[in-house]
Amino acid sequence: MAAGFDPLSEGFLTDPYAALEQVRPLGPVFFSPVLNRWVVTGYAEIEQVLLDPATYSAAEAQRALYPVCPEADAILAGLSLVPTMSNADPPGHARFRSVIVRALSPRRMAKLEPIIRERTSALIDSLLAAGSGGDIVAGLCHPLPAATLFALIGFPAEDGARIKAWCEDKIEVNWGRPSAEQQVRSANSMVAFLGHCRALVGQRRARPADDLTSDLVADERSLTDEEIASLLFALSFAGHETTTSMLGNALLQLLSRPGLWARVGAERALIPGAIEETLRYDTSVPMWRRVSTRESVLGGVVLPEGARLVLCFGAAGREPGRFPDPDRFDVERAEARRQLSFGKGIHLCAGASLARLEGRTVLNELADRMPDLRLSPDRVPRYPANISFRGPRELWVDWGVGRGSHP
Ligand code: HEM
Repeated sequence: MAAGFDPLSEGFLTDPYAALEQVRPLGPVFFSPVLNRWVVTGYAEIEQVLLDPATYSAAEAQRALYPVCPEADAILAGLSLVPTMSNADPPGHARFRSVIVRALSPRRMAKLEPIIRERTSALIDSLLAAGSGGDIVAGLCHPLPAATLFALIGFPAEDGARIKAWCEDKIEVNWGRPSAEQQVRSANSMVAFLGHCRALVGQRRARPADDLTSDLVADERSLTDEEIASLLFALSFAGHETTTSMLGNALLQLLSRPGLWARVGAERALIPGAIEETLRYDTSVPMWRRVSTRESVLGGVVLPEGARLVLCFGAAGREPGRFPDPDRFDVERAEARRQLSFGKGIHLCAGASLARLEGRTVLNELADRMPDLRLSPDRVPRYPANISFRGPRELWVDWGVGRGSHP
């Protein structure tokens, strides 16, 4: 059973939960030869790992899942990224963490709220103007978090498409199984992406503006320019694909159950719970990684020093002992907030409040403006081929009368 476990297989990418159910009899920790890593599916064991950064290092979090070809390796060797956030360990991690937590403070979130609402409304205006149906990932779920984060950092709006393409390339090489040709393309994209971050730091040093990069540059005691560039690289990546996926997953779940969209529209107090339940039931980060620094015992299994782990948040969210009737999507589920999609402990997602704010805003605005939103018939969602970032690439929906204006 463990031998057949392949999270990059077509079947797993389409429905990971059926495959995860099949491996539950293997216990909370098992070795996957295909991944060449230990897979941790138990909720308690994942918590144990997340809460013990001395035994389980985050250094593995952003590495290529599979060895890359020599050409890509040579390009990546010149990347000189400083580990800043999700791949940094104590004590260095705390320095970057405090900077980012300040940057994403509740005060900044409160300032962002009306901007996010306005941007959401403008994107819905464009969708409505274009007809009575379309791909809501391209029209709203992607551009909203991307524009919000890039504006916060200081990237001009026109950089959006380029950064999205670079991020997709990074995902393929770090969390997928790409061909040698794709590895080279991805490695070049990462170098270009970091160069772009460095250029922004240089521009803001010369001429400050009202954005996060200017604040980081102005704080002389804090970080070097090279560290700021690496931080921007990490942040611009962490903060948009994940939220795009969460929005797509939430809409897919809410629209695929008869009457649920109308119910949530009529009872807006259900919206925060719908977002938490989406993160539990259909998480946008189904797997995340760690590597052990010493021998340890996890779920009764003795792990050697250097054991590479895949923490399966998707399985934890469906654990029967933890979440009663786990395969039922229930927007009123009280314990949904115990989902682990944002991690836990010292690396707990620094952007969780922003993601939740964007989720609430999108669902509220859509309920106001598109109360009759529905999935387009005969469209099956497709998912990207990687282990850690999951959401529909496209989500075709209709609104208003007729069958929509898309092909
Ligand atoms: C639904 C959306 C999101 C999900 C599911 C998500 C998930 C995660 C996960 C699993 C981690 C790693 C936790 C660990 O290693 O223990 C993480 C870390 C992080 N996330 Fe998010 N994230 C989301 C949105 C965002 C947003 C919007 C931002 C920024 C604006 C952001 C910024 C970060 C940062 C900076 C870290 C590193 C924190 C650290 O290492 O201290 N994330 N996130």
